[in-house]
Amino acid sequence: MIKKADPKIAELIKKEEEHHQNIINLIASENYPSQAVREILSSILVMKYSEGRPGHRYYGGMKNIDDIEELAEKRALDLFLGKNQAGPASSGVNWVVNVQPLSGSPANYAILRGLLNPGDTIMSLALAHGGHLSHGAHISLSGKDFKTVNYFLDQKSETLDYEAVESLAKKEKPKLIIAGYSAYPRKIDFKRFREIADSVQAYLLADIAHISGLIAGGVHPSPFPFADVVMTTTHKTLRGPRGAIIICKEELKDKIFPMIFPGLQGGPHNHTIAAIAVALKEASTAAFRKYSEQIVKNAQTLAEELKKNGFRLVSGGTDNHLVLVDLTSKGVGGLEAQEILEKSGIVVNKNMIPYDTRSPKDPSGIRLGTPAITTRGMKEKEMKLIAGWINEALNDPIKAETIRKNVQKLCKRFPLP
Ligand SMILES: Cc1ncc(COP(=O)(O)O)c(C=O)c1O
Repeated sequence: MIKKADPKIAELIKKEEEHHQNIINLIASENYPSQAVREILSSILVMKYSEGRPGHRYYGGMKNIDDIEELAEKRALDLFLGKNQAGPASSGVNWVVNVQPLSGSPANYAILRGLLNPGDTIMSLALAHGGHLSHGAHISLSGKDFKTVNYFLDQKSETLDYEAVESLAKKEKPKLIIAGYSAYPRKIDFKRFREIADSVQAYLLADIAHISGLIAGGVHPSPFPFADVVMTTTHKTLRGPRGAIIICKEELKDKIFPMIFPGLQGGPHNHTIAAIAVALKEASTAAFRKYSEQIVKNAQTLAEELKKNGFRLVSGGTDNHLVLVDLTSKGVGGLEAQEILEKSGIVVNKNMIPYDTRSPKDPSGIRLGTPAITTRGMKEKEMKLIAGWINEALNDPIKAETIRKNVQKLCKRFPLP
């Protein structure tokens, strides 16, 4: 169909498909959703306007749309707060959910604008230490509207220093603290963050964009009931379409939800909401638990093999889906490494490491993630091969072409979903 309507675009999509089939995708924030999720994105739902919330819409003809959105909401609550979740999950709190945010950054912005007044202080991990732009970076609207105070990883362990976070909170008295990151390879102690937030009467926002699939699969501690509000994107480890979900305490709903609509957005993307509902159903299965366990096993195997090959890893290893590699001892910068690996068929992103002495455009590190290749079915055996190829390519870039052929051979055995 697309081929007939627009051969140029059809050809480019085909090329992109072939590209993915033939590469090892180690971008930690990417994943390959199921055929069912992808199919829904081009369903009839793309045409529908449904401003408002289920049962309270501006237009008529909403019965099916309401049912879809309510099902997505119910599945989100069941997945993150249902029986399957260990611990004191809901602990008497009434949690409410909004599946309308178009993506993670607008969702975070809506939360900040809902809970705070412009000029208020927020506290977040520095971007260069693994934080995210939407956590108050000066080039983001979140940084223009609010005063951002950053905490930093401990220089020696390269992990969160909860005591330092606490004393900074006591000094700066932020109104809101953010826990949750884009490039942090270790577990987050949300209970400890709750205690810190309580000590200064701050809100706690858990941004689980990267790790929500791991939380759903039971391999990372849950932010419930500790956070006041939890935000996740739906397209990373959760393996859904591009989108976001906010879950917050009921008493905060009237502050936050109107910032999504009408504050920032118009009509919700109903095709995305239906695809999120399907992804949430998939994420509640035993197969998904196994998948998330394998993501972590794969990341840990990749980490160990890289260490054997003389790479230094930030914090010494990983507890989750990503590995942050310091390339200093290999005498290559992050940008060059990214380019050499791309020539070898291995796609990664250059990344700052904590206390980096190089620039963001050519930092000292690369970030490697296992969600996408684990979706393709790769396991420990393949991680060993991949770590070996990364080492060979960076030691001797001339080998890139040979490695690329081996990568393609491996990829043939692991088709995209
Ligand atoms: C921790 C974290 N929060 C928020 C976002 C923003 O998500 P989006 O790219 O959907 O705006 C990201 C994206 O990488 C992220 O890593």
